[in-house]
Amino acid sequence: MKHFLSIEQLTATEIQNLLDSAAVLKRQRGHHAQPLSGQTWALMFTKSSTRTRVSFEVGIRELGGFPMFLSGNDIQLGRGEPIKDTARVLGRMVHGTIIRTFAQQDVVDFAKYSGIPTINALTDDEHPCQILADLLTIQEKLGSWENKKVAFVGDGFSNMTRSWMWAAKHLGFSLVVASPASCQPPSEFLTELNAPNVVITSDPAIATNGAHVINTDVWLSMGQENQKEKELEFAGFQVNSQLLASAATDHIVLHCLPAYREKEISEEVLEQHAATIFQQAENRLHAQKAILVALAK
Ligand code: CP
Ligand code: NVA
Repeated sequence: MKHFLSIEQLTATEIQNLLDSAAVLKRQRGHHAQPLSGQTWALMFTKSSTRTRVSFEVGIRELGGFPMFLSGNDIQLGRGEPIKDTARVLGRMVHGTIIRTFAQQDVVDFAKYSGIPTINALTDDEHPCQILADLLTIQEKLGSWENKKVAFVGDGFSNMTRSWMWAAKHLGFSLVVASPASCQPPSEFLTELNAPNVVITSDPAIATNGAHVINTDVWLSMGQENQKEKELEFAGFQVNSQLLASAATDHIVLHCLPAYREKEISEEVLEQHAATIFQQAENRLHAQKAILVALAK
């Protein structure tokens, strides 16, 4: 694995290897090897972040490296310098780059032109680092995703749902995505996905009925904040105690955070499931350290 750009491009074996490594790194925190010793890794972010930034900065340090945060607004990229020029400069100075931005193509181009390990820390298309942490949390809480039903209630074609759909395709678990008709994945995407175990519905109760994992995310992703009309489509899609009444008795609730209480999730459900949701947030650190170890030369 030279880069970590999407769940789409991973194999089931690569995903499982990363999760196994993350579990070991979590157990050995403070005592493991430091394969990034002497290395500088850049974080180039053009969108806001709390969890991803902090977990990568801490993770790089714990692996012996030095993180360098580059806000997209502060570097020349923000004034229009092309990604391929930025990539060719950073590729000669740092050992790897972690990118959070809008276009997936920018991350792909950066990987191509920089020649250094490149990690997608969220684009409009995918949030692969988050999905690894989510899968690790499912393993910890439920043992495995085998024979489990996973529900996603919310925007059916966001970065999170796209990454979840690819994860279901590779790993074979049942995924039901409940989303307003206007936010469902287009047929071209579903044809490309070609995963009979991924079901799309407009009825959140169909998704949560018997579900072991109930997942949600903001209704308006970063960059969509002004699309207030889109938010109106989500009436009835809040993850609340009523919607969870028919879930499996041992269900867990996941939220990648940040959460907007009383929008996509009720305050009551978020606080009832806070132990899992913040374990999920902590797992960002361990999962990303596994990615860094896998990419470190
Ligand atoms: N879940 C997640 O990626 O959080 P941040 O936007 O705070 O990094
Ligand atoms: N779908 C959300 C995820 C935030 C971590 C967004 O892109 O804003």
